[in-house]
Amino acid sequence: MLQSPKEKLASELRVLCIAGSPRRDGNTDLLLRQIAAGAASREAQTKTVILSELDISPCRHCDSCLKTGKCVIDDDMQWLHTDLREADRVVLASPIFFMGVTAQTKAMIDRCQALWVIKYVLKLPVAINPGKERRGIFVSVGGTKLSNLFQPAIATIKSWFTTLDISYDGELVFSGIDEKGSIIQHPTALKDAFTAGQRLADANLPE
Ligand SMILES: Cc1cc2nc3c(=O)[nH]c(=O)nc-3n(C[C@H](O)[C@H](O)[C@H](O)COP(=O)(O)O)c2cc1C
Repeated sequence: MLQSPKEKLASELRVLCIAGSPRRDGNTDLLLRQIAAGAASREAQTKTVILSELDISPCRHCDSCLKTGKCVIDDDMQWLHTDLREADRVVLASPIFFMGVTAQTKAMIDRCQALWVIKYVLKLPVAINPGKERRGIFVSVGGTKLSNLFQPAIATIKSWFTTLDISYDGELVFSGIDEKGSIIQHPTALKDAFTAGQRLADANLPE
């Protein structure tokens, strides 16, 4: 069947969903799945990577990337760098651990220092298609209801997105969610996540 121009644009949209929780099928995983389903319902191409199943060492600050923009550590971050540079949309899902993102998420972010070098030292484009708009959102939950619960993590994600030339499209966050899977009991969360995925994909389409 022939695709309409709108469908064609959407199917070319690459949405990279990053699961940062070490707890499989937990609250952020469930939200992320809905976001991916929402984006897929708009014909976007989605790919989900599960950080806890990957081999990603922490940054060693060896400064080897300073001249080349390439990280010398030979692990899964090598291909994830490419995925991050190719994505049109990035969804980062991480629960709050001690007021920040999880260790798995932070290790992945810190390893983007090589991309920081590409942008700020080598002054080269980070995105594979620099002319194409790149957007991202942050998805999170925390067990407590502290008023500033998500602020430190949001600051981290914003700084990371800036390095990747991704504009921060906002966050989908829920406090007071602690037990595995308890997000299902939230009256709107899963539906909100599906809609957020649709919106993220729709943002590419001309009216
Ligand atoms: C090591 C650890 C640290 C945590 N730190 C916080 C915290 O600082 N604030 C908070 O509200 N919840 C904290 N939590 C609770 C988690 O954010 C909560 O259980 C969340 O629902 C886990 O999401 P997941 O199911 O996607 O893994 C922590 C949990 C763990 C295991």
